[in-house]
Amino acid sequence: MRSDRDVIVALDFPDSSKTFEFIDKFESYPRKPFVKIGMELFYSEGPDIVRKIKARGHKIFLDLKLHDIPNTVKGGMRSLCSLGADMLNLHAAGGIDMMKAAVEGLAGADNKPLLIAVTQLTSISQEKLNNELLISGSIDQVIINYAKNAKTAGLDGVVCSPLEAGKIHEAIGENFYTVTPGIRFTGSDAGDQARFTDPFKARELGSNFIVVGRPVTKAEDPVKAYEKCVKEFCEGVK
Ligand code: C5P
Repeated sequence: MRSDRDVIVALDFPDSSKTFEFIDKFESYPRKPFVKIGMELFYSEGPDIVRKIKARGHKIFLDLKLHDIPNTVKGGMRSLCSLGADMLNLHAAGGIDMMKAAVEGLAGADNKPLLIAVTQLTSISQEKLNNELLISGSIDQVIINYAKNAKTAGLDGVVCSPLEAGKIHEAIGENFYTVTPGIRFTGSDAGDQARFTDPFKARELGSNFIVVGRPVTKAEDPVKAYEKCVKEFCEGVK
């Protein structure tokens, strides 16, 4: 059973100055948040942003969702790994061979990052899956199947909704991480997240890592909001 848990803060900022304005708030805080760098920041600032944030003592989930032929993904993973990220991801839709190649790309690294698969994007509805992408079956079946493929390929886990974490652990076993966005504090504004839970509930549902963006980055006191996430999710105190 993987009982390790952490809160990952999504750095959804357009540039380095906005990002460090946020990161600086944790300068004297003893626990440096695990942070997520996505396409927007990485494409605007380049690989150096990863090294700079890493140098400030943060663990990094580099959320670039690779999806290409196996050989290309293997090389891409090797390059990303050299930046020192702690977690990387790819699209399970690329197939088992592509995922195996990604694992090979990380082999031999000093600090091998966790490799996580995206199953179905939450923007894909049941209707789009069946009638636009012509993938038959229910979204749940497709997600479980992609998660099984990821496990077969040797990946460490999947990104999913906290509401799916239990089903995934049931189908794949506990020795597989679930990384779950869609987190809101009870009583707060949901924004554009349609299916969400609070950090305490995400813990109960079996998530290993919660990804939290705006509830922390847009909070009046981001350090306090982060602290609340850690209390609820990591310590189980509400
Ligand atoms: O601000 P909020 O907490 O909604 O941010 C959630 C983060 O998780 C964002 O970076 C978003 O892109 C990411 N994410 C998500 N849903 C997914 C996959 C990733 O919200 N299915």
